[in-house]
Amino acid sequence: MDVRNPPSVSPRQIAAPGTVVVRPFLLKPQWMNGLSERLLVSHYENDYGGALRRLNAIRARLAARDWAQASSFEINGLKREELMAAGAVILHEIYFESLGGHGDRPPTGLLEPPAGLAEALTRDFGSVTAWHAEFVAMAKALAGGSGWAILAWSGRLGRLVNQWAADHGHGLAGAVPILALDMYEHAYHLDFGAKAAAYVDQIMANLNWERIGARYRLAIGEGTAEDDALFLPFGAPPQAEARISAEELKAALDDEDRRPVLLDVCLPRDLPRRTDMLAGASMHAPAALPHWINALPRDRPIAVYCICGFQVSGTAVKELRRRGYDARALVGGITAWHAIGGGTVPMDMSTYEGAP
Ligand SMILES: [Fe+2]
Repeated sequence: MDVRNPPSVSPRQIAAPGTVVVRPFLLKPQWMNGLSERLLVSHYENDYGGALRRLNAIRARLAARDWAQASSFEINGLKREELMAAGAVILHEIYFESLGGHGDRPPTGLLEPPAGLAEALTRDFGSVTAWHAEFVAMAKALAGGSGWAILAWSGRLGRLVNQWAADHGHGLAGAVPILALDMYEHAYHLDFGAKAAAYVDQIMANLNWERIGARYRLAIGEGTAEDDALFLPFGAPPQAEARISAEELKAALDDEDRRPVLLDVCLPRDLPRRTDMLAGASMHAPAALPHWINALPRDRPIAVYCICGFQVSGTAVKELRRRGYDARALVGGITAWHAIGGGTVPMDMSTYEGAP
């Protein structure tokens, strides 16, 4: 597997040539240790999503440039912004993918690198505890400013390094980031105010060492097929043909011939977390599926989404496909849709079973 293109973003999900496709949340934002859903979702949709939208806009602008006519200041400006936006996209993806629990369970809060990574940290830093002390101190030293604390594998140096980064474009040449900790104020201010050190400690209590360990194996060329599943949202359909990216859905909705039926599935307990929906979608309770499924057309594609694209839409799509419908689950749910700048309308519960 290519670490730059983990499996939940398959080539067929790329909406247009050159488009960088949004990566979904792998963490469950409502069940983290001491990090609020409001903070995590705002960070993902606005800062990560903003960088992604900026990167794609810059790339489109670059593709249309007449290089022979372009001025040096135009080239310097666009290429600088492209580098910064690309760095922000990639580092935010590594940051968010390094957080979260196992399957449906919240993070354990334990310092528990898997065996291979623990041995490498011990080899290169003396012990896991010594690595942890240096990494945390490096992150806290960025408090009051901005930047990234990065654990990276350097093939040239033959070791893992704790790398200090002043901004999104700052990286050790040739090194592969394994873990990235966002030290920009937007990453913590909503929950922690100016208490950056408390934020760093809380991030360390939410790490997903399984995925960090898989990134290390991939970086040193020892990734396995089993590692792929770690980068797929929990409960999402494993088959690529049962998933649709936000970009692909946006393109399909703009095309009258390919426009899918939109289903918004939401557990009753999650309704208070919702405020909006995709225009034209109908909202349903997953438990009432046997009652609403027969009203669906069999001659049109169906796109199903939930909040983040975990098992709520995954289970509905599995059942729809079992019954012969051409159904696909939106990768990353409405959260990823927001991140790409997709439009929404206020939530309409008139079709929801058991609606008040
Ligand atoms: Fe950020």
